[in-house]
Amino acid sequence: MSKQRAFSGVQPSGNPHLGNYIGAIRNWVEGQDQYENYFCVVDLHAITLPQDPATLASNTYTLAALYLAAGLDLNHSTIFIQSHVSAHSELTWLLNCITPVNWLEDMIQYKEKAVRQGENVNTGLLDYPVLMASDILLYQADKVPVGEDQKQHIELTRDIAARFNHYYGNGETILKQPEAIIRKEGARVMSLTDGTKKMSKSDPSDLSRINVLDPPEVIQNKIKRCKTDPIRGLEFDNPERPECNNLLTLYLLMSGKTKAEIAAECQDMGWGQFKPLLAEALVEGLGPIQQKYQEIMDDRAYLESVLREGRMKAEAIANQTLTQVKTALGY
Ligand code: ADP
Ligand code: NA
Repeated sequence: MSKQRAFSGVQPSGNPHLGNYIGAIRNWVEGQDQYENYFCVVDLHAITLPQDPATLASNTYTLAALYLAAGLDLNHSTIFIQSHVSAHSELTWLLNCITPVNWLEDMIQYKEKAVRQGENVNTGLLDYPVLMASDILLYQADKVPVGEDQKQHIELTRDIAARFNHYYGNGETILKQPEAIIRKEGARVMSLTDGTKKMSKSDPSDLSRINVLDPPEVIQNKIKRCKTDPIRGLEFDNPERPECNNLLTLYLLMSGKTKAEIAAECQDMGWGQFKPLLAEALVEGLGPIQQKYQEIMDDRAYLESVLREGRMKAEAIANQTLTQVKTALGY
């Protein structure tokens, strides 16, 4: 039996951070031999908010290098850049024409970003989930490993696929409905400066996140300065202590220890004792990725060849689906 397909991506809209790594990329790596994988740097998504062109180009390569550095294996995974495969844009238009506007207006992430943008909301920001649906549906993906914040967008993707099949499938499944894979721990890594907000590239404060490529002294400084509370002892899962739960969860995910081990180790600790431990686990966990990243960035020709091959493999599948959709529509 052939393997199920997985698809996912990260936007090159800023510095990739621990939320992207723990919520997404690390899970791609861990699950990669179970699936036939397509991992995309979603650079068309990045321009839904203003981007400097040179920075966008450089962030795109950085992120592709990071996919490799984090451990994606080309025997299992195809790595490519979204804008290299024009089918993503083309399918978006076709699916736009069956997607009710009110489905998009209901998206939580749209509402949040639109409020932040004020009156300058462009059509792309609203349409973002249809582009995301196209990304996934082009590869007929079975599974989409993502963080918690993408759950609603995957549900929308399923609805769009079902609606297309219903209107144009003539009894056939032209677009496969995917399922999200969301891990329990680390599905929502929180900001270091406000435990009620998720860690994000778009937070204006760099102190709010650990970037995957932060050097050790920056990581140590950010952890030293991160928000805590004055309560004695450390514990998981106390809703009154979101910062505490977040920091212990980061320690859990980066140290490889179990929850019970950490609960025992940390229950009587103060922050002054715990913070250096966490910083150390982060530095140690990210160090090998940073080193591998440097090696890849020093061999630009290799990275470009990976992306060329990725583009060819991705295009072959994507164009097949696009042709089926166009045929169904009468083109
Ligand atoms: P960002 O919000 O940082 O721009 P993206 O939209 O590029 O991130 O999301 C890329 C992937 O990273 C998605 O699977 C998303 O769910 C995941 N992700 C982003 N932020 C977090 C977070 N704080 N915790 C867990 N996963 C996250
Ligand atoms: Na996001």
